[in-house]
Amino acid sequence: MSDETTYQNILTRLDGRVGIVQLNRPKVLNALNKETMGEVTEALELFDRNPDAGCLVITGNERAFAAGADITQMAEATPVSMLDNPFIDYWDRLRRIGKPIVAAVSGYALGGGCELAMACDMIVASETARFGQPEINIGVIPGAGGTQRMTRAVGKALAMEIVINGRFLTAEEALRHGLVNRVVPVELYLEEAVRLAAEIAARAPVAVRLGKEAVNAAFETTLQSGLAHERRLFYMLFATEDQKEGMDAFINKRPPVWKGK
Ligand code: CAA
Repeated sequence: MSDETTYQNILTRLDGRVGIVQLNRPKVLNALNKETMGEVTEALELFDRNPDAGCLVITGNERAFAAGADITQMAEATPVSMLDNPFIDYWDRLRRIGKPIVAAVSGYALGGGCELAMACDMIVASETARFGQPEINIGVIPGAGGTQRMTRAVGKALAMEIVINGRFLTAEEALRHGLVNRVVPVELYLEEAVRLAAEIAARAPVAVRLGKEAVNAAFETTLQSGLAHERRLFYMLFATEDQKEGMDAFINKRPPVWKGK
């Protein structure tokens, strides 16, 4: 497992069964340059392959989760340089992480930072969190999923304001509109995210993974094929030792012991 000395722009650690990745460019509010996105992707993939980690958390610091893609790095980009930039590929790799990821967000989650939080499976926000897609202020639109994930989360009317008028959402608004799971005082947001992740990490690992896959399928497909997908995953779980263990434990009134097999 990589430790924090391996990376320039992030810190990583394993806390119990929770793999934690912390963005660590505080001077630029954790702006996401391609090196940082590369490290985040690599660290999450390493945790995804590590059987000691059951659930992942990505966080920033109190002032900023991340204030977006690094504008200084993007300013001179051309369409062709964008095609060659691994930045976009990193987002596709993040989508393929099998273990659940909880974003612990405090302060600014803007542009690519908001998109990174929305690419996670759940968001725990501090009361000071601010979510927005202010790309319109620099003459572009979101390019890492913001128009799609924000619209699915909060609906068309509000997404339009956010994307084409640069409106920020407070943590409470984000909660009300279903963008985040919960809002807690700033001194508790990371602790709460790790607590949630630890709860998930203590559950049957294969079922957690397939549950994530099934819920995500709801965003990708029709109801009919989503239901068929769910059923196949459900049947597959009956080939696991954990299904036998979970049901035997229930019947015999004892706690289950999961093997992830
Ligand atoms: N890229 C590069 N540097 C950034 C940055 C970013 N996205 N956001 C902040 N910084 C830097 C600032 O330039 C500043 O650096 P210096 O101290 O060297 O001047 C430092 O971080 C602190 O920022 P501010 O002084 O601006 O702090 P503030 O409290 O006055 O304002 C803010 C905070 C409102 C978040 C403001 O920094 C801001 O508007 N940032 C840009 C937000 C943005 O437009 N994000 C979208 C980027 S595009 C994108 O993400 C595309 C995509 O979809 C992938």
